[in-house]
Amino acid sequence: MNASLTATATIPTWVFGAKGMLAGELLRLLDLHPGLELRGAVSRSEQGVVEAHPHLVTRARTCNADEARAQIAEVLARGEQAVAFLALPHGESASLWTKLSSELGALADNLYLVDLAADFRIANPARYQQAYGHPHPAPTELARFTYGLVELHRDAIARSRRVAAPGCFATALQLACVPAARAKLLDTARPWILHGITGSSGSGVEPKPGTHHPWRHANMWAYSLDGHRHEAELAQAVEPFGAVPPIHFVAHSGPMARGIHLTAALPLARKVTSAEARAVYAELFAGSTFVEVLDGKVPDLRSISASNRAQVAVHVRGDVLNVLCTLDNMTKGGAGQALQCLNVMLGFPEHWGLPRAGLGVN
Ligand SMILES: NC(=O)c1ccc[n+]([C@@H]2O[C@H](COP(=O)([O-])OP(=O)(O)OC[C@H]3O[C@@H](n4cnc5c(N)ncnc54)[C@H](OP(=O)(O)O)[C@@H]3O)[C@@H](O)[C@H]2O)c1
Repeated sequence: MNASLTATATIPTWVFGAKGMLAGELLRLLDLHPGLELRGAVSRSEQGVVEAHPHLVTRARTCNADEARAQIAEVLARGEQAVAFLALPHGESASLWTKLSSELGALADNLYLVDLAADFRIANPARYQQAYGHPHPAPTELARFTYGLVELHRDAIARSRRVAAPGCFATALQLACVPAARAKLLDTARPWILHGITGSSGSGVEPKPGTHHPWRHANMWAYSLDGHRHEAELAQAVEPFGAVPPIHFVAHSGPMARGIHLTAALPLARKVTSAEARAVYAELFAGSTFVEVLDGKVPDLRSISASNRAQVAVHVRGDVLNVLCTLDNMTKGGAGQALQCLNVMLGFPEHWGLPRAGLGVN
């Protein structure tokens, strides 16, 4: 952190889902944030934050959701601002927000809230139902959330109080496809073929057979052969630029703990060179703090590990545009993205609390 990273006042902040994987990452990032002060790590359990996340250095204690909602209401009632991050399982965010919103009423307008789950990412309830197999639990709330991919929706996020931050695969899919779709380079009649590999931390903090180390280590397998829920977010993102193509996204579980590696094979609608295609991506992400369009290099995971940076590279072969994208599912694909949105919402420098350099060595 350089000397300019100072804030005169800090905004009280609550993180819901404290024992979870993304909450642990968010609490790590908040440690270096000069404008936010952790007031509550909100958990169903009474276990301390450091007991749940030994990598953290904090004296913060956990509180339960009832206490946190009352504390937030108290701060807002004094006319002050408050911040809440919801790092909860799918469905739990909608239920918490519905409760909080009805308790706070008009006071909710001083609450800056970022949801890290998928509950408010799909604007159209019919598309949500198609992707998730059940009706949206709070369809009238959908219009109160802004989609939180800063590189594509910066102005709308800056005007928002509530943001639904996209997850890791959805972020990579959009960074890989939206620039070419927006420039009308792509054929929407032929399938867009997308393969993504995720690290095990993408599966959350609770051990499952598919995350058990002896099985996961040096192993890899595919899933979602019949379609992945997050295809709906890509469909939503490219719809404004024309017809929605058949999207064929196959996800894979990889042997690493962190990281997403996406390979897109996108059918071209017209002849372009690799340099022309790269210029389209470079133009859209020009000035972006966290999306880097590579030239003559391919993205890799170590370069972006634990950073909020995504790397993108493009290459044309015949009538196919290959786009490669890497990002860390915990940072740019999760907690970092949520903090980046919050920085934009509050008018803070976008990079506060967010590393750009990767670990290099894991
Ligand atoms: N992991 C990733 O890479 C990633 C990336 C992008 C988006 N996401 C999304 O972000 C959200 C959080 O992901 P995560 O990986 O941090 O999940 P996680 O490790 O499973 O953590 C979720 C936390 O939510 C709390 N919780 C509250 N109600 C719960 C309930 N009914 N059942 C289970 N847990 C409950 C728990 O914390 P307490 O025990 O403290 O209450 C739990 O640890 C999810 O919606 C996920 O889809 C994850």
